[in-house]
Amino acid sequence: MQKLLVTGGSRLSGELSLQGSKNSTLPIMAAALLAEGECVLRNCPRLTDVYSASRILGCLGCRCSFADSCAVIDSGAVSGTEIPEHLMREMRSSIMFMGAILGRMGECTISIPGGCELGPRPIDMHLAAMKRMGVEVRDSGGRITCRIPSGRAKGARISLPFPSVGATENIILCAVTAEGETVINNAAREPEICDLCCFLRECGAEINGDGESRITINGKAHLHGCIHTIMADRIAGATYLSMIAAAGGEIILKNACTAEMEPFLSVLEQTGCSIYSGDDRIYMRSTGRLKAVRDRIRTMPHPGFPTDAQAVLMAALATADGTSVFEENIFDCRYRHTDALVKMGADIQVMGKVAVVKGVPELHGAEVNATDLRGGAAMITAALAAKGTTEIGCISHIDRGYEKIEEAVRLLGGSVRRV
Ligand code: UD1
Repeated sequence: MQKLLVTGGSRLSGELSLQGSKNSTLPIMAAALLAEGECVLRNCPRLTDVYSASRILGCLGCRCSFADSCAVIDSGAVSGTEIPEHLMREMRSSIMFMGAILGRMGECTISIPGGCELGPRPIDMHLAAMKRMGVEVRDSGGRITCRIPSGRAKGARISLPFPSVGATENIILCAVTAEGETVINNAAREPEICDLCCFLRECGAEINGDGESRITINGKAHLHGCIHTIMADRIAGATYLSMIAAAGGEIILKNACTAEMEPFLSVLEQTGCSIYSGDDRIYMRSTGRLKAVRDRIRTMPHPGFPTDAQAVLMAALATADGTSVFEENIFDCRYRHTDALVKMGADIQVMGKVAVVKGVPELHGAEVNATDLRGGAAMITAALAAKGTTEIGCISHIDRGYEKIEEAVRLLGGSVRRV
């Protein structure tokens, strides 16, 4: 089992080009199934989750290859409709393939991806929406068989009880080749959904309203391949900015999605960091001595503060002057990283969905384990600001979402080694 050894205490500075977004690459890889030809994805990040998605595509009969920062997916000869249980288990996002396989083949067999590090993650909204579109769903002991009797899903009006990102994406994937019009009310508005829709439009789909709460899709019988550039990863961006904020220093973040990062940047600015953003660049300077954030930091669906950036910002605020309060509203179990931060000297009290972070003058190195993807990134963030060396285990969580994270941190002058 690999570990990361991070030695903190030095200022960081440098330029970094942001990786492509994990959360838009995964549904777009599923969407490539719908294009009856070759899709080229530029700016595709090399992540273990991306390789898991390519294994799923492979078992369905797609050819998938990677060269430089491109992924090439040829779905011309798709034949399979079943995702084996072990591949479903590799990542939660495997559920995205349900809508895409149904859209292409009219039937699929998958399994419930199950709970994960963030607590139970049900798929009830996904299944209810598929049923509204004429899909018959049978669950036998966790193995789910879906079938569209006529072979082609029917457009429907679907109102989501909560703007779930995954459910919105699955509905879009099934609806783009359905018969007639689908309307999604209370749709998620995350930028990655817009990137997915942009890709699908390049394949010939007709979608309107993405980025808003009401999305309309007019189904087309066939889609074709395209060349698409994956958007930048706003959460990786938030992570590297949090590292600089915590350790002190300056950064130029290139290839950044500045507008999409605004909900995060507006909170980070309250810590006293100087931030200038324009076009696709963000410049940020931090003295390393942050002010606590006065208002409660509430995670909310986009354009609210992103739940995926909660842990890394908390790590930076662990040494701020004053007390910051977080409220986690998206996932039930998203404070598991706090034990590691406390072990490093942080003062954090968790009460249900609220975490109270009293800034301490200094953190110290410790032996910790990554609890989940963003929690692991928070540990690196804290370690870069801490005195001494932190040994982080279970880093496979981190590799799911950050491309060559130790190279990126070293480029900024941080001391990190994979052993
Ligand atoms: C996506 C992101 C994840 C991010 C999350 C919220 C990807 C690959 N992952 O996850 O990084 O943290 O959005 O921004 O894009 N829920 C149900 N029933 C359902 C579906 C969801 O109860 O059928 C609940 C979930 O348990 C959770 C909440 O709704 O509490 C939000 O989940 P959702 O927006 O669906 O997140 P994901 O798509 O899984």
